[in-house]
Amino acid sequence: MPKPSAMKRDHFSSGLGAFAATLGSAVGLGNIWKFPYLTGSNGGAAFVLTYLLSVALVGLPVLAAELLIGRRTRLNAVHAYGTVVKGQKTWALIGWAGMISALLIMAFYTDVAGWVFAYVFKAGAAALGGPGLGPDTFSALAGGTWEPLAWQAGVLVLASGIIAFGVSRGIERATKTLMPILLVLLVVCDIRALTLPGAFAGVDFLFRPDFGKISASVLLAALGLSFFKLSLGMGTMTTYGSYLPDTARIAPTAARVALADTLVSLLAGLAIFPAVFAFGGQPAGGPGLLFNTIPLIFSKMAGGPVFTTLFFILAAVATIGAMVSLLEVPVAWLVEKGKMRRPVAACLTGGAMYALGILATLSQGRVLGDVKVLGKNFFDLFDFASSNVLLPLGGIAIALVAGWLLARKDFEAELGKGYGKRPWHTAVLSAFLRFVTPVLVLAILLNGFGVLRL
Ligand code: PFF
Repeated sequence: MPKPSAMKRDHFSSGLGAFAATLGSAVGLGNIWKFPYLTGSNGGAAFVLTYLLSVALVGLPVLAAELLIGRRTRLNAVHAYGTVVKGQKTWALIGWAGMISALLIMAFYTDVAGWVFAYVFKAGAAALGGPGLGPDTFSALAGGTWEPLAWQAGVLVLASGIIAFGVSRGIERATKTLMPILLVLLVVCDIRALTLPGAFAGVDFLFRPDFGKISASVLLAALGLSFFKLSLGMGTMTTYGSYLPDTARIAPTAARVALADTLVSLLAGLAIFPAVFAFGGQPAGGPGLLFNTIPLIFSKMAGGPVFTTLFFILAAVATIGAMVSLLEVPVAWLVEKGKMRRPVAACLTGGAMYALGILATLSQGRVLGDVKVLGKNFFDLFDFASSNVLLPLGGIAIALVAGWLLARKDFEAELGKGYGKRPWHTAVLSAFLRFVTPVLVLAILLNGFGVLRL
């Protein structure tokens, strides 16, 4: 691996590689775990519809803005925002806040990812004739001490190992291989679920909206999810944008990523809800939906343990690209600012994430279960602070920087790369970043603090 000081800045090798890596960051537990349980507890299709709108009105513009700023500066998130507006270094704060978000998200994300990896082995053992997954399997795992900590450590070592290999050799190769596997596995699960008797009620739940269920809180939950889903507001996509080749067109890349990511969520929903309804399950099962309901539902059908194992392999695959992108935000900064070698930076970042991760994991069990900060245990606190405070703040700032402060010629030059003339969407994106997106995101934030009730 070339030394950071001696190398030309690494980048994704092609437009396709950039697309795969960017999609690899977006797709994760958000699709397989959060999207289904939020859809289930927020009224089904009505939530799906508002989520699709949020992706289009908020997610897509911010994603394009992040990729644009990243490629314009070709720097890590802190330095990208510190230099993108001439004479205004303060915006580096977006990158700093992003690094804190990365640490906080990884703390609970690796806990959940650890459960997913544990389920691959538990379900696999059941498929091979061992004890099945029972009603207490999840609470025993999540509420334990050493077992979840060990899985979390394993997951972090895996993600840090991939990141140590660098941008094109590590991130790009891993995601290019993993994404197709993910799609194939999802479609297998979909076919199994959709061919169950009574499956159609699940399809109905997912796609036939009851407009009466669209409330202010459903709308805001959907907006929040679109943020977390597309890895926005914290410099992840800015960092990935900095590795984008000049041949890649920003807006179509962003649109394809948003579309493909949404498709993965819908495919996950199509694997889960038809089966939930076919077996009389509970769609509003909350965050436990994935871990409690899926094994139960699949256990009731022929070949159940095999499909349960497949499903969790799928979820595990999906977590990897997302975790790698979360690690990359601090790692890119340490390599470029601290002139650190990638493997060292990866170890250091992984270690810091584990330190916080231990708090999140132990707060699910007896050891730290009673410790509350601002009324929340560490797991919920990290989730709340990142998703409800830092990401929306970052999103507003990014929209303002790209829409109002960035020199117009820079904005237009980046959007125009890969085109002969100025593309039609330049003015549309600009209008969204200036007006629509910041206003909508502000609404999420104010709602998070209970200042505004829509
Ligand atoms: N987008 C990921 C998911 O939906 O699982 C989560 C995530 C990854 C959030 C990277 C933020 C981030 F920077």
